[in-house]
Parts: sequence; C-alpha cells; structure tokens
Amino acid sequence: MRILITGVGGGVGGALLRRLPDAIGYAHSQLDVTDPQAVLRAIAEAAPQVVIHCAALTNVDRCAQAPEEALYVNGFGTQNVALACQKVGAALCYLSTNEVFNGERGAPYGEYDPTQPANPYGYSKSVGEQIVRELVPQHYIVRTSWVFAHNGRNFLQRIVGLAREGKPLSVVTDEVACPTYAEDLAEGILALVHTERYGTYHLTNQGALSRYAFARAILDAYGMADYPIAPIVKAQFNRPSRPPTYSALQNTFAALIGITLRDWRAALHAFIEYERERER
Ligand SMILES: NC(=O)c1ccc[n+]([C@@H]2O[C@H](COP(=O)([O-])OP(=O)(O)OC[C@H]3O[C@@H](n4cnc5c(N)ncnc54)[C@H](OP(=O)(O)O)[C@@H]3O)[C@@H](O)[C@H]2O)c1
Repeated sequence: MRILITGVGGGVGGALLRRLPDAIGYAHSQLDVTDPQAVLRAIAEAAPQVVIHCAALTNVDRCAQAPEEALYVNGFGTQNVALACQKVGAALCYLSTNEVFNGERGAPYGEYDPTQPANPYGYSKSVGEQIVRELVPQHYIVRTSWVFAHNGRNFLQRIVGLAREGKPLSVVTDEVACPTYAEDLAEGILALVHTERYGTYHLTNQGALSRYAFARAILDAYGMADYPIAPIVKAQFNRPSRPPTYSALQNTFAALIGITLRDWRAALHAFIEYERERER
C-alpha cells in the first residue's frame, strides 16, 4: 500500500515512518500543510492510497495564546490535505485528540459521543475532524492522548529532563487521561488503515491515570523513586491552556476488529528499554 505521512518530524509521524521505510514522509521543513499548492503537488505527485496526516500545531499553550494560528494549521492545513486527498482519490487518516471533549462527564468518552472542546487546541482539532468528515468519505479519524515518543517534545521527556537537572517538580492531580506510546499507536494506525473500515476510532494504551500519577510512574521507572513531586491542582497551575479534567478515551470500534493497545505500564517499560538500547 502506498502511504504518505505528514509531520514525520514529530512523535507519531516518526514512529510511523520507522515502521514504513518505503512510505513518503514529509517533515515540516519539507512540506508546510498551510500551503495549498505545495500540499496538492506533493499528494498528486506521490499518488498515495492513504495519507496519514500527523502534522499539527500541538503545543496547547501556544494554541491558547494564538487561537488563529491553531485554526490556520489544524483547520486550514487539514482542509488542504483533505482537498488533495479528494482530488487524487486517497483515503485520509487524521490524527485527533482527547481534547475535543471538555472532560466534565467524569467517565470515558466513546467514539461517537458529542464533542465539546474546552480550549483553542481542542477546538482547532475538532474543526479538522469536521473538515475531514465533510470532504473525504474514506476517512479514519484516530483520537489519541498523552503521546510519549522517541522524537518530538512530550510530557515524559520534560519530567525526566527536569528531574535530571534537579529542578523542583509539581504536577496536577486533577487531569486524567490515557498515556500512549507512539510506537504502539503507529502499529494500531497501520493495522487500521489496511481495513478500509472508515470511521472514528480511539487508540490509546489501556488505563487512565492523573498527570501526577503518570509523572510518579515515569520517575519510578527511571530509577528516581525518591525524587519528590508536589501534587497540585489545575487551579494552582498558571498556564494559558485549560486541559479537560477527565478525558479517558474508550476504544470500542477498533477493539471490535481486534485492534487494541497494551496497558500503559508495559508500554512505558518498552519505551525505556528502547531508549536504553539507543544509548548503548
Ligand atoms: N502529542 C500528544 O500528546 C497528542 C495527543 C493527542 C493527539 N495528538 C495528535 O497526534 C498528531 C501527531 O502528534 P505528535 O505527538 O506527533 O506531535 P508533534 O510531535 O508535535 O508533531 C507534529 C509535527 O507537525 C509539524 N508541523 C507543525 N506545523 C506544521 C505545518 N504548518 N506544516 C507541516 N508540519 C507542521 C511539527 O513540526 P515543527 O515542530 O517543526 O513545527 C511537528 O513535527 C497531531 O495531529 C496531534 O494533534 C497528539
């Protein structure tokens, strides 16, 4: 299958490309998805059967400070990709987020629950979802959360980095979701895009926990069990973006066709094992 991937400089795109060395991958420096002509040219030339669109403005605080930029990249950029897919008859797999839900329900969200984003990042990604649904009937919308990856920036690397520098750590207890290892997610996405079972999917590692508990588990797994982390609540954390309180994603539809990701603890240990191998 001929696959084109956007955003391969990021965590998820990088993991996909590692599994698919023959895929056509574009990093931000090679293809800016906000350039309609460049996107059309790239997709028309490659004539892929499936485009996996990972490129996005993912810095939630930046999205909160510049909502128009978030909409430009995550909305207009996705429209450019969707229109190009429409033109060449490619299926489109769009990566989306737990933050399309406001997190107020207190129970896991299903694939077809109504979305109600509570911040500009979530809003821009939900606009991307709507565009994909309107323009490309052969689509997969894959929502995920709290991705940790071997490249790109993420929560895990920030926590480990700060602890190694001996910096004080305080992490919120009232933000709960499902951590997701980019390599596991990539495997799930690739299984899905071969099915032609178009629709909306939730792919995360299994298990939900708070940011605080995840940070604790990360440092424990890195042999820093004694390193202190102060538990705080969101109201004490002065940041531009307001994340949802409880946004665990329930995988129902992918599970029905045998696509599930392992427990987050096993995924975290696999991540650390891979990093150790890389450092050797
Ligand atoms: N990370 C998470 O926790 C998470 C959770 C839920 C959903 N997702 C979704 O999963 C997808 C992949 O996320 P990720 O974790 O791989 O994020 P990431 O590591 O931030 O990667 C996103 C990539 O998109 C690139 N990009 C930004 N603006 C672009 C533009 N205008 N044109 C082309 N490329 C552009 C970035 O390049 P530069 O850095 O060079 O700008 C970056 O390499 C995204 O759609 C995201 O919304 C992520």
